[in-house]
Amino acid sequence: MDTTVHLPGLTLKNPIIPASGTFGYGLEFARYGDLRRLGAICVKGLSLKPREGNPMPRIAETPCGMLNSIGLQNVGVEVFLQQKLPFLPPEVPIIANLYAQSPEEFAELAGVLGAEERIAALEVNVSCPNVRRGGVQFGQDPEALQTVTRAVVAAAQGKPVIVKLSPNVTDITAMARAAEAAGATMLSLINTLTGMAVDIRTRAPRLATGTGGLSGPAIKPVALRMVHAVCRAVDIPVIGMGGIVSAEDVLEFILVGASAVQVGTASFMRPDRVFTLVDEVQALAETLGIGAWEEFRGCLKEVSR
Ligand SMILES: Cc1cc2nc3c(=O)[nH]c(=O)nc-3n(C[C@H](O)[C@H](O)[C@H](O)COP(=O)(O)O)c2cc1C
Repeated sequence: MDTTVHLPGLTLKNPIIPASGTFGYGLEFARYGDLRRLGAICVKGLSLKPREGNPMPRIAETPCGMLNSIGLQNVGVEVFLQQKLPFLPPEVPIIANLYAQSPEEFAELAGVLGAEERIAALEVNVSCPNVRRGGVQFGQDPEALQTVTRAVVAAAQGKPVIVKLSPNVTDITAMARAAEAAGATMLSLINTLTGMAVDIRTRAPRLATGTGGLSGPAIKPVALRMVHAVCRAVDIPVIGMGGIVSAEDVLEFILVGASAVQVGTASFMRPDRVFTLVDEVQALAETLGIGAWEEFRGCLKEVSR
């Protein structure tokens, strides 16, 4: 089976992409597998200036998932471009994940990254629940989302712009339509769900920030429901994520309409997971008699209710 995925302005060898914030800058995982085998690499969220992130503790394990409040710690775009990007293999498309605190700052960052030949696409993080300014507040108001999307599209120098949606909204399809209308090339979803863990002995929250973002298998049913709904609401391609750990999970997201997937928390469970998934997804698709993604993508039987 030819596993190639053709997206606007972006071709992937296969649909497997490590999710932003869970795969470092890619290089950290080179010892666990061949980075060139991945469909693309989505790097840790980048901001114009370096960020220290939130105070510790900022990770808490929960049944079937984890809570994090990293707060977009990163080296800043300049250090990334000078010290990380040159060492990533040229064969694999690199998706830069952007975080900023205003539409103007988003545009400036998109301009810097858009000018960089090695960056294949920009993913706009308007959905991080763990930062006080920016982040999810842009992803919860359709007008703010449109302003940010327009600003990034205008500055991206023709690079595909993926808008990453938050599940922490009443109607994610309204946000998806807003991003599409503002010129997004693609959408990705879902980011983490806001959650909390507390300790009855210390009587304190387990995260220094009180709340954090829930990811991992616990969120997969929510993610599938939202990817399914968004794929029916828009005409642009959708990259699905949320709790993907197995080849079955990947095919479930493609069945509900996703063109590709991102794999996040699974890399904390097993750092070689994204690499082994590449072969497993192909083998499972062939076992199921799938000859091309177009025969299977979005082919979920509809139910009447
Ligand atoms: C530790 C951690 C850091 C993350 N950092 C980012 C980030 O910088 N930018 C972003 O858009 N999403 C970030 N995310 C969200 C993931 O990319 C993904 O949307 C989410 O974890 C759901 O997928 P999963 O259940 O496979 O982990 C982060 C998630 C985790 C667990």
